[in-house]
Amino acid sequence: MQKAVGVIGVTGFVGKYLAATLAKKGYQVVGFSRQGKANVRGVSEWRKTEEMSLHGLHAIINLAGERVDQRWTTENKQKFESSRIGMTKKIAQQLEAMPSETRPQVWINASAVGFYGDGKELLLDETSPSGEGYLAQLCIDWEKAVTPVSGVRSVIVRIGMVLGRGGMAWDRMKKIFALGLGGKLGSGQQWMPWIHVQDLADGIVFSLENEHVVGVVNGVSPAPERNIALTKKLATALHRPAIFGAPGWALRLAFGDFGDFLLGGQRVYPRAWEKAGFVFTYPTLELALVELRQ
Ligand SMILES: NC(=O)c1ccc[n+]([C@@H]2O[C@H](COP(=O)([O-])OP(=O)(O)OC[C@H]3O[C@@H](n4cnc5c(N)ncnc54)[C@H](OP(=O)(O)O)[C@@H]3O)[C@@H](O)[C@H]2O)c1
Repeated sequence: MQKAVGVIGVTGFVGKYLAATLAKKGYQVVGFSRQGKANVRGVSEWRKTEEMSLHGLHAIINLAGERVDQRWTTENKQKFESSRIGMTKKIAQQLEAMPSETRPQVWINASAVGFYGDGKELLLDETSPSGEGYLAQLCIDWEKAVTPVSGVRSVIVRIGMVLGRGGMAWDRMKKIFALGLGGKLGSGQQWMPWIHVQDLADGIVFSLENEHVVGVVNGVSPAPERNIALTKKLATALHRPAIFGAPGWALRLAFGDFGDFLLGGQRVYPRAWEKAGFVFTYPTLELALVELRQ
C-alpha cells in the first residue's frame, strides 16, 4: 500500500518540487493549503490547513511560512510568526491529541539558516549556537515549537537560499543579470548558503526514509559561496556582466530590515546529511548553474 505523506505549504516553491519528488517515489501526497485545494502536480488529496487533520498519514512535512523578504512591519511580523511558530505549535497539539498508534511516524519541519544570525567567517554546522537578530529569534522559536511527541521522529531542516526555476531567488537574480544590472550585495564578502531545490526535495525525502536522521539538519549544499563569488559565477553562467552591485544603504532602502539580513551571512555546512550518507546531485554552484540556466 502507498504511504501517505502530508505536505503543508505544498502550493509554495519548495512544496511543488517536493510533491513531484514524493509522487515519483511512489508516495501518496496529501496537500494542505489554506485554500483547501490547488493545482499541484503529484498531489492526489487535499485538506484544509486550518482543519489540520493528520489522520492516515505516515508522515507530515511542514513548509508553511509567510515570505520574509517583505517589509518587517508589525503586521507582517505577526504573519511571519503565526505562519511558522503558530502553525508548528498547531501540528504538535494535533499530534499529541491523536492516539499514539495512529500518529504519523515522521514529522519534518522547515526552519532556516537565519537561525545562525550573521555568522561572519565561522564554519557553522548543526551543533553551532544560534545567532542574534529578529530572524534568528524567529527561527529559534519556530524550532522550539517542534516539541517531542511520543512515537514520532522529528527532523528540522534549516534551509538556506533555495535556487530553482520558479523560486524567488533564482528568478529575481536571473532577471537582474539579464538586464545587465547584476552585482554583489554590499561588500560581497558575506557567505551565502544555498541549495538547489531538487537537492532540498531529495534531502527531505532522504530524511523521511532514513530512521537515523533525527533532529536538526542543515538544508544547504556543501559548498557555500561568498556573495561576490556567487555573483561572478552567475554572471559567467548567464554571459552577462556583474559590474553594478547594490550598496548596503540601497538594500536597506529597498528591503528595510531584510536588507540588513542580506548584508550578513552564514557559512553553513550540511554535516548531518553528510554523516547520514545523503548524496547531493548539485554539490557545487557550477553544477547547479548548468541545470538552472537551461
Ligand atoms: N525559498 C527559500 O529560499 C527558503 C530559504 C529558507 C527557508 N525557507 C523556508 O522554507 C519554507 C518553504 O519555502 P518556499 O520558498 O517554498 O515558500 P513559499 O513559496 O512562499 O510557500 C510557502 C507556503 O506557506 C504557506 N503560507 C504562506 N503564508 C502563510 C500564512 N500566512 N499562513 C499559513 N500558511 C502560509 C502557503 O500555503 P497556502 O497558501 O497554500 O496555504 C505557501 O504554499 C518556508 O517556511 C520558508 O520560510 C525557504
